[in-house]
Amino acid sequence: MTTQEIRRRFLEFFQQNGHEAVRSSSLIPKDDPSLLFTNAGMVQFKTLFQGLEKRNYTRATTSQKCLRVGGKHNDLENVGRTARHHTFFEMLGNFSFGDYFKREAITLAWRFITEELKLPKEKLYVTVFRDDDEAAALWQEIAQFPAERVIRMGEKDNFWSMGDTGPCGPCSEIYIDQGEQLGCGPQCGIGICDCDRFLEIWNLVFMQFNQLPNGTREALPRPSIDTGMGLERITAVCQGVYSNFDIDLFKDIIGHACALAGVTYSRSAPDTNDVDTALRVIADHSRSVAFMVADGIMPSNEGRGYVLRRLIRRAYRFGRLIGMPKTFLHSTADKVVELMGPTYPELLHSHEFMQRVVLEEEERFAGTLDNGLALLEEAMADLTAKGSATIPGELAFRLYDTFGFPLDIVNDVCEKRGFTVDEAGFTQHMKEQKTRAKAAWKGSGEADLTSRFTALLEEGLRCAFVGYDALTTNSRVVALLSQEGDAVEALAEGQSGWLVAGQTPFYGASGGQAGDVGTITSSLGTAKVTDTMRPSPDLVVQHVTITHGQMLLDAEVALAVDAAARVACERNHTCTHLLHAALQNVLGSHARQAGSLVTPERLRFDFNHISGVTDEEIAQVEAQVNAAILADLPLCAVQQSYDDAVAAGATALFGEKYGDTVRVVTVEGTSTELCGGTHLRRTGQAGLFVILSEAGVAAGVRRIEAATGENALRYLNGLRQELHDTQKALKCRPGETAKRVEALQADMRDLRKQAEKAAAQAASGQGKNLMDSVEQVNGVALLCAQTQAPNVKALRDLADDVRSKMSSGVFCLTAEEDGKVHVLVGVSKDLHARFTAPALIKDAAALVGGSGGGRPDMAQAGGNNPAGIDAMFAKMKELLGA
Ligand code: ALA
Repeated sequence: MTTQEIRRRFLEFFQQNGHEAVRSSSLIPKDDPSLLFTNAGMVQFKTLFQGLEKRNYTRATTSQKCLRVGGKHNDLENVGRTARHHTFFEMLGNFSFGDYFKREAITLAWRFITEELKLPKEKLYVTVFRDDDEAAALWQEIAQFPAERVIRMGEKDNFWSMGDTGPCGPCSEIYIDQGEQLGCGPQCGIGICDCDRFLEIWNLVFMQFNQLPNGTREALPRPSIDTGMGLERITAVCQGVYSNFDIDLFKDIIGHACALAGVTYSRSAPDTNDVDTALRVIADHSRSVAFMVADGIMPSNEGRGYVLRRLIRRAYRFGRLIGMPKTFLHSTADKVVELMGPTYPELLHSHEFMQRVVLEEEERFAGTLDNGLALLEEAMADLTAKGSATIPGELAFRLYDTFGFPLDIVNDVCEKRGFTVDEAGFTQHMKEQKTRAKAAWKGSGEADLTSRFTALLEEGLRCAFVGYDALTTNSRVVALLSQEGDAVEALAEGQSGWLVAGQTPFYGASGGQAGDVGTITSSLGTAKVTDTMRPSPDLVVQHVTITHGQMLLDAEVALAVDAAARVACERNHTCTHLLHAALQNVLGSHARQAGSLVTPERLRFDFNHISGVTDEEIAQVEAQVNAAILADLPLCAVQQSYDDAVAAGATALFGEKYGDTVRVVTVEGTSTELCGGTHLRRTGQAGLFVILSEAGVAAGVRRIEAATGENALRYLNGLRQELHDTQKALKCRPGETAKRVEALQADMRDLRKQAEKAAAQAASGQGKNLMDSVEQVNGVALLCAQTQAPNVKALRDLADDVRSKMSSGVFCLTAEEDGKVHVLVGVSKDLHARFTAPALIKDAAALVGGSGGGRPDMAQAGGNNPAGIDAMFAKMKELLGA
């Protein structure tokens, strides 16, 4: 059975058993600041387990894209060195949201592995949480296991939680015995050793609790089921291969990498062969990289972007070790797209863009890799001489800071050579740098606030958004926080803080649209709302400053959005959708949204496009948006199932996770997008759309800034005023400005030419007078003179004139231009046996700070010291033997 087939059969089996097949969610967990990446199948169902959300199914099955790098579940350092660790992998799972519990979960799992996959019963074992007698009894009954095949384990192994907070519960794991030949000896056994003989293949979690930030656990509303089976691992078992990297899917990726490097994969036991380790690292990281970029992550220096950068750099270094060409990872990642694109179409959509991003990152790192490695080698030699085997934290930090070496690269290099890295020292240096950076940046402390807001949510606080239809509403203050995020009972006049009401018309910043501003009033005071945030779909928080009286927790309040600011924002948001559609019409369907910001003042829209955009294309895009405005098209927003929306052609953004029900915003006949933002009722309300600028912002990403409505008008009025002032200055009528400027430029060119000519004539006229200054030095006629020539060309004309008048002799003429001196020295032919122009000018021009050369009869030099001219003339006399 191929990987594809196992995935398909799993989903089909659970569908046949009443489960909804739900598509994999993005690698970026939506609205969950507690998690960096989706690390298990249950992540997208977190709110269902918690009872915070309901859907029209209570059983689901998925094959979920997962990343286990960073956070509670982090396997990065092991990847490549073992047969089974991955950063990216697919997790097959079945879920019950308060539907079935232990008995059915165990029955379904047992049936799938024994009837569908036909794994031999006698080789299977299970573990259960230490006091879970119920699960132990069920296994004995359903699988007809004797008691000794049901092994009890502690919290470390058999209690699963998604992270530091969130749903969790005791679990039961299914193991397969891979045979004695893989064992570590007679003592070998589950829970006793860590060898490869007994392999865990499936984890059934009996979700019963919710872990709170304060460390306590509360019961979930209803007991639920979450299971996870690594697709790569179960495929290896079914295909009878020892390592995950030997399954069909990986074979093709590794084969491609081998061809690029000109090496072979010997399928050696892990950790004994550097080439094999490198190939596994490259194959694994290529998958992560391709999927991460497809979900909208870009390499950067923090957060998810930094993880992506680390993976690219780690793979890159391993690749160079085995003789990969200068860049290769974009190609191995592309192989992943070829193999997995049919199952995960998001890979195909971002295909070219992904290659470009990876290639650029490889090229950037190539430049510093060798230098960094050399520094590290030197340091290791020094340390060895000193008898130390610890890489100081300061050095690891310097490698990070200067050469872009993530800590894992330093670890990879050093470990092989018997060194360890002082990671605590590294972290300390990192911390100090962050403190320095923070001190330089007056932050809002937003990160801390996020966790504070998450805590409110976990305490059960909710706020309904009613602002699609209303701009005012009455409600009650349900939470009040100080500026720093501490819960308070009141905010006094002049104080700022955060206010949550039971319901609100204020739109909280999200999906690129800025938060609303406005006022909140109670019988005791007034608060100005300066911003609104939406830390989660269920929580809208107003940032307030009390302008009058005070604001109390529990007070009845009237909330009113600033209508002018809101509609200005809506003009920009609706026009963002029109712009997106116009860009795709004009540039092609690849021109997809890569980022968006909508404020009352303007809109900023980033999109994927490799080459530049011409003025003509910009004009076309602008015209199409304005045509849609003039057509005064109606907009409508409806809630729809995700699949129906996408089938109807709605544009979904990658990297966004959408619930099963989504909000679809349609501009009649023009654009359909999934969007939670607020919009105009008709496009005509936008009034006008102007593009202010267009430029590239990153590899393959371009940015348009534009204005609408009054802001567009203000911009055009500014241009009109400028034009008006220009016309006034030029004394011309509207419509004549360009012609007038061209005429002025032509006049200017003519005048410049005339001036040059006049100057040259004046200089050549000087020739006659100059001859009066000829003196005899040592029997040679010598003319030294400072001329009025305006430039070097005029000086040369003058020299020609002098030459024609001086049948035998030497001259040295100067002209000054912009604080510099031009020098010409001439020697008549009859004197060449005694003097040549280059020889004379060499010594003479030095005195004006210059140098030069030429032919025996004429040489030219330039200097920057006009004050030395007299001394130069004196030198000329001296050179002639005076
Ligand atoms: N969520 C469980 C796991 O990841 C099934 O192992």
